[in-house]
Amino acid sequence: MSDQLGFNKMAGAALGTLLVIFGLGEVLNIAFAYKPPAKQGYAIAVQEDTSGAAPVDLPIDWGTELPKADVNAGKQVATKCQSCHNLDQNGPNMTGPNLWGVLGRQPGTHPGFAYSDGMKAFGQKQPIWDYAHINQFISGPQAYIDGTKMTFVGLKQRQDRINVIAYLHTLGSNLPIPAPAPAPKAAASSAAPAASGSAAASGAPASGAPAAASAASAAQSSASTAPAPAGK
Ligand code: HEC
Repeated sequence: MSDQLGFNKMAGAALGTLLVIFGLGEVLNIAFAYKPPAKQGYAIAVQEDTSGAAPVDLPIDWGTELPKADVNAGKQVATKCQSCHNLDQNGPNMTGPNLWGVLGRQPGTHPGFAYSDGMKAFGQKQPIWDYAHINQFISGPQAYIDGTKMTFVGLKQRQDRINVIAYLHTLGSNLPIPAPAPAPKAAASSAAPAASGSAAASGAPASGAPAAASAASAAQSSASTAPAPAGK
C-alpha cells in the first residue's frame, strides 16, 4: 500500500516535472513567436527616438542659432546654474567660479577659485571657452572633463544649452558671434522640402521616398551623407 503510494508520488512528481518542462517550452515558443512583431515595434520607436535624440550629436551652427536663441528662456535655465555659480560682474565665487564673462575667457582661470586639476589641464589645451566647448561641457560636465568638480548632471536638451549660452553671452562676453555657415547645411535643409515636394525637379528622380528619408538623416548626421543625394 505504502509502496504504491510512493510510486504514485514519484510518478506524479515525474509527470509534473515533464509538464513544467514542456510547459516551459511552450512558454518559450510563445515568447519567441511574439518576438518578431515586438522587434518591428521597437524598430519604429528607435527611428522616432533618433530623430529626437540626434540633435545632441548634430553640430550646432552658432552663427545661425545664437541670433534666434531665446535669451529669456536661457535666463530661466540659468537658475539651475545659480545654485553653484554667481553670474554678476565682480560677483563672488561660490561652489563654482563666477561666470560673468565666461564665454571667451580661458578655462580654469577665474581669480580666487580653486579649480580641479582636470579643469586646469583642460585650460592648458583649450585657450578659451568658445560656444562649442562650453556646449559640450554643460551637456555632461563629468563625461567631458575628467575629474571636474562640477557635479552637475548636464543639460540634455540642445535648445536649453543654446538658450543658456546665448544668455551667458549677454553677461560681459566679448566673444564675437560667428557668421552663419552657408554652404553644406543650407543645401541640406533646402533639399529636404525639395525632396518631399518635387523629387524630379531637384534632380533626384530615382527614389523620392528614400531621398526624403536620407535628407532627414543627412540633416542629422550633417556633412557625411549630404552631398550624395542632395548636393548634385
Ligand atoms: C552643483 C554645482 C554646479 C552647478 C549646478 C553648475 N556648476 Fe558649473 N561649475 C561648478 C564647479 C564646482 C566648477 C569648477 C569645476 C572644476 O574646477 O573642475 C564649475 C565650472 C564651470 C565652468 C568653467 C568655468 C571656468 O572658469 O573655467 C563653466 C563654464 C560652468 N561651470 C558653467 C555652468 C553652467 C552653464 C551651469 C548651468 C547649466 C553650471 N555650470 C551649473 C559647479 C556647478
